[in-house]
Amino acid sequence: MIDALKQARNLILHCHNDIACMKQAVDTMYRVYTSLSPVTITDQNDANIYLPSGKAISPSQAAHCLLEMKRTAIFLRGIHQAIAHQLSTHAHRPIRVLYAGTGPYAALITPLLIDLNPRELTVDLMDINPVSLQSTADVLMKLGLSGFVGEVHLADASTYK
Ligand SMILES: C[S@@+](CC[C@H](N)C(=O)[O-])C[C@H]1O[C@@H](n2cnc3c(N)ncnc32)[C@H](O)[C@@H]1O
Repeated sequence: MIDALKQARNLILHCHNDIACMKQAVDTMYRVYTSLSPVTITDQNDANIYLPSGKAISPSQAAHCLLEMKRTAIFLRGIHQAIAHQLSTHAHRPIRVLYAGTGPYAALITPLLIDLNPRELTVDLMDINPVSLQSTADVLMKLGLSGFVGEVHLADASTYK
């Protein structure tokens, strides 16, 4: 599974504007995540959470975001660059990322952790939806990536201090 995720990540980081290639990569990621988590895109009835700041979409809808391939590709590339920049400009380790709104797979960072060392990077996880947050923690654990996890917050990112 790690190998599949790694190949998908490499594909998505390097395939420029090739939509077919992006689709292949996100489909692979989705297959990996759904082999580890009960959350899929098929549950039409799971609940959104309505916050004063707006709607936090349900686990199933959040899972669907992964399949929006251009969005996923662009965010993954940006986060990859940001982590590389922080690692190259700061001596302090580990650098620390707060992932607000992980959804069920922490899809925008999970594939990037594979080649890193937990001594280099800590990820604090936050989501307002307990099903999504638990799913993300399980996926990272099953992939052997829980060494990267710092704090886990079931919290509203718009008010969290
Ligand atoms: C659009 S989904 C994206 C999921 C994932 N980051 C991805 O890109 O695949 C947004 C996620 O953020 C969570 N969320 C939305 N508003 C939030 C808030 N104010 N505080 C914490 N989590 C929030 C939702 O519960 C949902 O899991």
